[in-house]
Amino acid sequence: MEIAQREISRKDVLKLGVLAGAALLLPLERAAKTQLLNARMASSQLPEPFQVGFVRPPVLKPVLRRGDTDFYRIVQKQAGVQLAPGLPKTRIFGYNGITPGPTIVARRGRRVIVRQINGLPRGINPAHGDENTTSTHLHGSDTLPQYDGYAMDTTRPGWFKDYVYPDDQDARTIWYHDHAFHHTGFNAYMGLAGLYLLHDDLEAKLPIPQGRYDVPLVIKDAILSQNGQLIFEDQSLSSLMGDIILVNGKPWPVMRVERRKYRFRILNASTSRGYRLALSTGEPLTVVGTDGGLMPRPVLVQRMNVGMAERYEVVIDFARYRVGQQVVLRNLDLKNNADFSSTRQIMRFDVVSDAKDRRNNSVPPRLNPGRGAYSPMRLKESDATGPRRRFRFHRKNGLWMINNRTFDPKRVDANPAFNAVEVWECTNNSGGWFHPFHIHLIDFKIIGRGKNGQSPPFPYERGPKDVMYIGGGETVKIVAKFGPRKGRYMMHCHNLVHEDHDMMIQMEVGKGGPSPLAARAKPVSKMRPF
Ligand code: C2O
Ligand code: CU
Ligand code: CU
Repeated sequence: MEIAQREISRKDVLKLGVLAGAALLLPLERAAKTQLLNARMASSQLPEPFQVGFVRPPVLKPVLRRGDTDFYRIVQKQAGVQLAPGLPKTRIFGYNGITPGPTIVARRGRRVIVRQINGLPRGINPAHGDENTTSTHLHGSDTLPQYDGYAMDTTRPGWFKDYVYPDDQDARTIWYHDHAFHHTGFNAYMGLAGLYLLHDDLEAKLPIPQGRYDVPLVIKDAILSQNGQLIFEDQSLSSLMGDIILVNGKPWPVMRVERRKYRFRILNASTSRGYRLALSTGEPLTVVGTDGGLMPRPVLVQRMNVGMAERYEVVIDFARYRVGQQVVLRNLDLKNNADFSSTRQIMRFDVVSDAKDRRNNSVPPRLNPGRGAYSPMRLKESDATGPRRRFRFHRKNGLWMINNRTFDPKRVDANPAFNAVEVWECTNNSGGWFHPFHIHLIDFKIIGRGKNGQSPPFPYERGPKDVMYIGGGETVKIVAKFGPRKGRYMMHCHNLVHEDHDMMIQMEVGKGGPSPLAARAKPVSKMRPF
């Protein structure tokens, strides 16, 4: 697979130079030269915004239901997809050959087993000099360590692995994506990401939009070469900043909506790009859910940041508009991002009719009381039973580090006792960047942010979280209860370029948990039907 160099205008080069600031090691001049050698699609050839219809990723059917378990089968494969009319087919890596992958719809209390078969091309991939190995992580699930997509627990082409998911948490928007050691960024960028929606009774009984008014928006940026192929250009290991915005795999799509409320499950699946969302009409967004599910109460905001891997459930009420009106979901300038004029908008909603169904058309003042044993929302700073831990995010010698460390699978960087409640303070010292820090296994509550972590959280992040957006020079303070599993779990920046090089450490919860390598992949020749 050839990875073309990107071409960027002088203005963009300047912008990237500003973005990188002092933190970037590569002199601007050299960066400009490598970029100009390239075959990036000219902006005049890019697809026009609002030309393509909105699509939803298909829902995957189980191959078998037995007892309390649903079995699924997914083949990871290379495929060609047409992103927009007039474009050549773009090679992707997709779960079942599509990106985003098919959505898995799960029900709390029913276990899910997903057989992931690596059908990617064999041999060395010149893009990263390694085989096309994969590891599948279900982001937002309290999965056992051996099914959590540990970076070293890889599956080679021609091999498969059965992943077991407990589905014992509150309803939430979670996602499965690749996590292979050192090429997570490449694999996920090529398309290995999909949604997994966990429902429960509490959510089902709420009068909030459901069913076809409950709509996923997987937002991701991309760079295309002149011949329509994805370019993985990470600006000397700093960030990948695409100029094409895809929603559910389509560039700047148009969705036809009725005059009523819709619930959008927003996932930022981008490699390095954050978004600052707002509606073109100036109307507020009603945030009802965060990474770990529904918030205690809804929150109205004019604009909100969405870092990589963050999920927000947002209600938009199109009854405020007349038929024929167009509403654009905008992306405002977000600090420490490289914006192009094309990245200022995400998609458009065209109001086409009155509501065809008026059920589930409200947002009650109370949503989720958060009664679960591991729900963080009722925890306070003073509930801490364990030590206060501090993590510092910075860059040294071109590598991204946490507390001066890069990933070492043999080392444990934090060891909370099983069921301990701890307060963590996470500080971003690398001025020109933001780091969305993700901790596997747990949900946490953000209790402070800002210069010393003493300011209140953003209004829209007052729900259970598993990714914290740490802005430049900022400290984010969280509280969490560490369980319900024991063992080793990764934690890392979800800028996938940073994660791969090597802003990742691990914790071990309690003692005596299973090894993350306790259930290795097997060759397909040993595969038996479920
Ligand atoms: Cu979404 Cu460790 O990843
Ligand atoms: Cu995760
Ligand atoms: Cu980072």
